[in-house]
Amino acid sequence: MVNKSDAMYQGWLSHNNLKDSPYQDYFRAVLLQKDTNYLSKIEKLIDSSLNELKFTHAQIFGNKSILPVYQALEEVEEDKFIYLHLISSDKAYRTNSKNLDSFSFMLYNKNGFNYLKINAYSPIGLLYGIFGLLRFLDCNETFHKDEIWQTPSYSIRMINHLDNLDGTVERGYAGSSIFFEAKRNKALTKSIMEEIGLSSSSELIREALKDDYDIAEDRERIHDYGRLLCSIGINSIVINNSNVHTLETKFIDSRLDIVRKISDILAYWGIKTYISINYAAPIILKELDTSDPLDIRVGKWWKEKTAYLYSQIPDLGGFMVKSDTKGQPGPFAYGRSHTDVANMLGEALKPFGGILIYRCFVFNDRQDWRDRVTDRAKLTFDTYTPLDGEFLDNVYLQIKNGPMDFQVREPISPLFSAMDETNKFMELQITGEYTGQQKHVCYLVPYWSELLNTKINTKETISDHICGVSAVSNIGNDSNWTGHTLALANLYGYARLIWDTSLSSEEIAKEWIIQTFGFHSKVCSTILHILLDSWHTYENYTSPLGTGYMVSPKDHYSPDVDGYEYSRLGIYHLADHKGIGRNRTIESGTGFVGQYKEPLRSRYNHLSTCPDELLLFFHHVPYTHVLHSGKTVIQHIYDSHFEGYEQVKDYITKWKELKGLIPDSIYSHTLDRLQTQLGSARDWCDQINSYFYRLSDIKDEKGRTIY
Ligand code: GCU
Repeated sequence: MVNKSDAMYQGWLSHNNLKDSPYQDYFRAVLLQKDTNYLSKIEKLIDSSLNELKFTHAQIFGNKSILPVYQALEEVEEDKFIYLHLISSDKAYRTNSKNLDSFSFMLYNKNGFNYLKINAYSPIGLLYGIFGLLRFLDCNETFHKDEIWQTPSYSIRMINHLDNLDGTVERGYAGSSIFFEAKRNKALTKSIMEEIGLSSSSELIREALKDDYDIAEDRERIHDYGRLLCSIGINSIVINNSNVHTLETKFIDSRLDIVRKISDILAYWGIKTYISINYAAPIILKELDTSDPLDIRVGKWWKEKTAYLYSQIPDLGGFMVKSDTKGQPGPFAYGRSHTDVANMLGEALKPFGGILIYRCFVFNDRQDWRDRVTDRAKLTFDTYTPLDGEFLDNVYLQIKNGPMDFQVREPISPLFSAMDETNKFMELQITGEYTGQQKHVCYLVPYWSELLNTKINTKETISDHICGVSAVSNIGNDSNWTGHTLALANLYGYARLIWDTSLSSEEIAKEWIIQTFGFHSKVCSTILHILLDSWHTYENYTSPLGTGYMVSPKDHYSPDVDGYEYSRLGIYHLADHKGIGRNRTIESGTGFVGQYKEPLRSRYNHLSTCPDELLLFFHHVPYTHVLHSGKTVIQHIYDSHFEGYEQVKDYITKWKELKGLIPDSIYSHTLDRLQTQLGSARDWCDQINSYFYRLSDIKDEKGRTIY
């Protein structure tokens, strides 16, 4: 349920700071000038733009005050005003040397002029310009030069929801789905009815889900979510889990109305809606007896379904699909390839300008732990590189940032610097599946920035080799959106970073803090310190030096050093009494390193150049091996774990000093989470240290208690 009074509900968009801004008088009026090619259009996005300015005006001058909007300069009566100019894109692209696109905007403020101007070349550019200006002023920036230009680093900036139609969220840690919340409530009501009487609960839940879907209750929440995302430049959302169950398979059929309603709301914020589809839909919907992509009937079926979808939702973004992995159906059952499926779906989407996002997350879940040759890390590359150049233009491969699965630290996937003839997206994970599940603070922007800016040769970074970025959402229906208040900084930071990959994680954190909490210097410096430190802290007390996992397979949260060691999932640290790590080198290991191009290949292959933080991902070494830091591996394990625990203790001390300086509800809720984090950090620290002490029989140099 929406609780707008929650102190975090508005996120970073309260615009409270503007109440003290020297620029506030400009918000007394608006002049909207449109070049002729916009004159006849009734544009939703212009409405959204003006509404945001009206909201800001009311924040500054009170709810009763009305913002005048003029169409011509001569009409403006106020001394100062915001001047919006929607410029014909042809003209702008022709006359401007800058690398403009439809999302670009320019902020303009010349000394002596009585307006703040936003130039844009499309309605969405205008809306981004307004949010850009508001952010600038909310952060108390001043115009040092007349013009500030903005164009995003990528044209597709996406969020993936793992939401299911029954209201649950896979890997969600902030309540249930904001898209399908009302549905869940209905289902729960039915199941309670069932408790006091009749047949099986699952039967009744299924019954409840048959009712006409009414998103009235979810509408407001979705709208407010769209506003938050638009303000930071997100322009695409996949609304459902790529593990598609029977219910969501019907999104392309009898439940299409749900997608249409959601997409209408998101379109108001310039966000395109995508759906995850089930590759086996023709069979699940009982319309064909096969889903073989090369069977003519299957291709025709998808073309017809897609055409119908677009007749109902013309601005649908396209489909996402995950196939042949972790129980999802796929082409291999018919002896077909990933290209066959992807191109069949791409073909169906093409006439409507839709795109197909093909997730590359593949692994063998039948691996034998006794087999030390097969390496899960190699699979994605081995599976996809032979297919380079075979995908249609509107097919995009979505590749997880690392070769495993969103661990606290992994090397960049080698696939990004391969497959030059294929459209590639990087997939990140905002939700804290392996990073403390929004009970721990873990600001991941420094990690993401490092990944995107990884140099793959002297001139290029990974970022130059991808055309979009996508990330798994951390949002739920908790009133503060993310469970942990500080986890909202990850959503904000993700979007800001992919808008402009040159922004530093510190700049982004500062922006978020100031817009959320205001300018109080102690508040800002404390939260900034905690955020910037938190990823390393989490890494310190969990799995060391790039090993990853060591987590309970049941919840992916609590420590369990050997949780995966004898599993069929291909995740092994291979620790024994002498040493630890997976040898993935070219000469004596699994050969994974050979998938990288130079310079990364040599850097990772050699012990002398492999960075400490990834050492055990690439090499098996004795506990006495000396790191670049000068410490032995075992001493590093002890030190980092004790240090990680102490760092969390220190966060609590620092946080307590904020009492009275931030809203009470945020203060106590976050304190509560920090205390939970401390308990968990203690478990991690003691279990990891004891495990390696018992195994290696090497004492801690500093004589601290290890069990
Ligand atoms: C992880 C996660 C799964 C998810 C999968 C994916 O393995 O644990 O819940 O389905 O990633 O990305 O598809």
